[in-house]
Amino acid sequence: MHVLPIIGNNIIKLDAVSSTNTYATTLLKNQKVHEGLIIQAIHQTEGRGQMGTNWHSLPGESLTFSVILAPSFLKADRQFYLNMAISLGVFEYLTVKGIQGGLIKWPNDIIVQRKKLAGILIENSIKGKNIQHSVIGIGLNVNTVADNLPAFATSLHAETGRFYDLDAEIHELTQLLDKYYMFLRLEKLLKLKEEYMKHLLGHHHSIILRKNEIDFEATVMDIQDSGKIVLQKKNGEKMIAGFKEFEWTY
Ligand code: BTN
Repeated sequence: MHVLPIIGNNIIKLDAVSSTNTYATTLLKNQKVHEGLIIQAIHQTEGRGQMGTNWHSLPGESLTFSVILAPSFLKADRQFYLNMAISLGVFEYLTVKGIQGGLIKWPNDIIVQRKKLAGILIENSIKGKNIQHSVIGIGLNVNTVADNLPAFATSLHAETGRFYDLDAEIHELTQLLDKYYMFLRLEKLLKLKEEYMKHLLGHHHSIILRKNEIDFEATVMDIQDSGKIVLQKKNGEKMIAGFKEFEWTY
């Protein structure tokens, strides 16, 4: 079956904008938008991260963009499958770039040797029981040299020593996002989950987490459709947690 790609056929490239996610959300409010449209910024002045954090990247050095999707087939109570699909697209992109040791850190950070290389901010609007629109914001550190990155972050350049053409990279990355969005559209949910679990930090490995200033050892048992994480503590206790209900120790 040959199905036309959705993501990446059209792109709006902006020299500077506060946040591509905010721009995309405003666009959706004001006009009809074709599914798959990408808003890319060369310079993002007020990039947003998860839970009200900031996303900072040096102008012209990295990928900062948002994809507008309309996954109206997806029930809101299964919306985490969209996070899985997008995380897997970014993860596969790193694999194609020859980067070893990449992992997905729940819910959807992409890390390499414990350092963050890409962050994903997904903002959904819900209509009835389904998702109406989704703005998928991706920040991926590309050409920034290690000295200009915070200690907890890395970039493609820092990992491989090479410099990259951002236009070529966004094209390659969005093709892979489209590949995994197709899995979602074809309802290959089990496959998405299996792949996501395979690359998830802490699945079959113990990790040290922190809650109320107390460290504990746990492994990731499962991720629920809603997106909650199921942890098994070393003492056998099961813990089901939402985002920010515990901290990672790195
Ligand atoms: C995170 O890790 O907290 C998510 C970071 C997401 C950053 C991207 S950059 C493009 C898009 N526009 C934003 O304002 N944020 C996302």
